Amino acid sequence: MEKEIYWSRFAADFEERNTYVVGSGDMDRVNQAVASQKNLGDVLEFGCGNGTYSKLMAPQADHIRATDFSDEMVTETRKRLKNLENVTVEKQNCFETTYEENQFDTVVMINLLHIIPNTRLALKEAKRVLKPGGRMIILSFTTKGMGFWDKLFMLYRYLKTYGKPPESAQHLSPKSVRDLLLRTGFTVDQVSLLGTRSKAVWALGKASD
Ligand SMILES: C[S@@+](CC[C@H](N)C(=O)[O-])C[C@H]1O[C@@H](n2cnc3c(N)ncnc32)[C@H](O)[C@@H]1O
Repeated sequence: MEKEIYWSRFAADFEERNTYVVGSGDMDRVNQAVASQKNLGDVLEFGCGNGTYSKLMAPQADHIRATDFSDEMVTETRKRLKNLENVTVEKQNCFETTYEENQFDTVVMINLLHIIPNTRLALKEAKRVLKPGGRMIILSFTTKGMGFWDKLFMLYRYLKTYGKPPESAQHLSPKSVRDLLLRTGFTVDQVSLLGTRSKAVWALGKASD
């Protein structure tokens, strides 16, 4: 497996950096949306970073596999979530995981879709490992729907925090995420933009039978 080099640099304090870029009010809003998802069953998280969302979802899940492509993120998440008995942390590439078909009740991608080069391949892998009717949860920050000055200030905070964005970065919209879900074998229950000054696409879907 090739080595992840962009995000790995921020493993120790990714959550704090991201909160600075997004703003704590909007970060709380999106976190509430994730925490409001109940009865998650057996969960697979792709691109878990340093474990923020697996920790948030753990009380609502039977078990969570928190996965990431970065060795540094995997190590940091293991450290941060070591006291959560229902979370296992593993290194996986979201384009090609080692899991069986129809294994999970829920797959989660948070702040992943807008930074990877092949969104379709990641969704197809999610569909493969989800049970028929299984739940897909997507959240991705975006500049769509943001005011001019909010966009400019956020870009400044991003550059100061992370430097140049990865080449594959893109600005998703509710429409592009809806289309992506429909093209990769999902039905769509909800797609919307969350946030006030910063925005995030929030989508809930189900794996078609
Ligand atoms: C922007 S961070 C988001 C982390 C976390 N989901 C959060 O919101 O706090 C994106 C994460 O996706 C991981 N990643 C990038 N490409 C990946 C791939 N092909 N497979 C799995 N993880 C990947 C990175 O290592 C990084 O930890």
